[in-house]
Amino acid sequence: MSQINLQELVKDRIKSLKAYHVDNFDTEIKLHANENSYPLAPDLIEVFRDQIGKLTLNRYPDPECGALKDIIAKRLNVSTEQLVIGNGSDELLQLLVQVFCDPGEAILFPDPTFAMYGLIARGLGVKPVAFPLNEEWDFEAETLLQTIEEHNPRILFFSYPNNPTGNCFNPGEILKVLERYEGLVVLDEAYYDFAKSTFLPEMARHSNLVILRSLSKIGLAGLRVGYGVAPAAVVSEINKIRLPYNSNMVSQVFSEAVLSRFHLVEEQIGVIIEERHRLQDQLGKIPGITAFRSDANFILFRTAIDSSRVFQKLAQGGILVRDLGGHPRLKNCLRVTVGMPGENNRFLETLGGVMQTD
Ligand SMILES: Cc1ncc(COP(=O)(O)O)c(C=O)c1O
Repeated sequence: MSQINLQELVKDRIKSLKAYHVDNFDTEIKLHANENSYPLAPDLIEVFRDQIGKLTLNRYPDPECGALKDIIAKRLNVSTEQLVIGNGSDELLQLLVQVFCDPGEAILFPDPTFAMYGLIARGLGVKPVAFPLNEEWDFEAETLLQTIEEHNPRILFFSYPNNPTGNCFNPGEILKVLERYEGLVVLDEAYYDFAKSTFLPEMARHSNLVILRSLSKIGLAGLRVGYGVAPAAVVSEINKIRLPYNSNMVSQVFSEAVLSRFHLVEEQIGVIIEERHRLQDQLGKIPGITAFRSDANFILFRTAIDSSRVFQKLAQGGILVRDLGGHPRLKNCLRVTVGMPGENNRFLETLGGVMQTD
């Protein structure tokens, strides 16, 4: 029997990382992960039931995801050569860093933003450069371009709308950056369906633009399907390192079914957007709460008391949200996903109670 010290074998840059962590207590109401709280539409369940018996699960899935790409290409009016399917859009973020960055090089993203940009970079030995957002959670192109000059990043990542602040950055400023920056610009539009604002039309004018979308936020988080729209040349480089069967058969077939019956999801998205407005309004009426404007399916808010205490009290009341108070720019901030009307009511009542008694 050999007793090897495994810690000595692990790369230092991996040892220093912390695994991406999401509190996932078993609460009745889960508003912490920006999922869609609505269960699948009954018509979709019926379609899935029918399809499951026809799946050839003894065979590998289509490595090219041909049928799924056909549907996405039609919906977005792009060619299938411009599409790449990921096991969630997370995987595509990682593939992009692998394709475009050598260890020691940099990527740049606004801060605060989605934690995975930094985590993926560090895991690959790439330097994450965080560019501080202003008080409105936005930025000016000139200042960003100066930071670019200083750090020479290979990729810029913009979460649009931005997680966790919820807003879409000023598109005019992003365009200015696109025009002048000579590296790759990734517009991560995971929350596109709630904002309906996109850089897709800009793809024809900018050869360095990549757009990422996800099915996770609109009701299919469990399927793990994300896709990228990129110049065909970028897609073929990604395909050289993408694992051949990264998208499984169930995910491909079910997401084809959903995307070809998108009206069933669209109804839920419509209610979530309405509920976002209502939640935002109501949050503003609770003493001690400042809610930030959101274009996504979640709202960032600041509490006049310790956010970890609010988090705990909400969890005791059966409601899980995300406590972001550990981030230096997000002291006493929490993020709540817009749920179904009943869930939102429970959240508002419980939060109102917590703010009154503390
Ligand atoms: C901005 C952003 N991009 C990407 C993702 C990852 O999405 P997926 O589930 O498709 O990997 C998330 C998930 O929270 C996100 O907030």
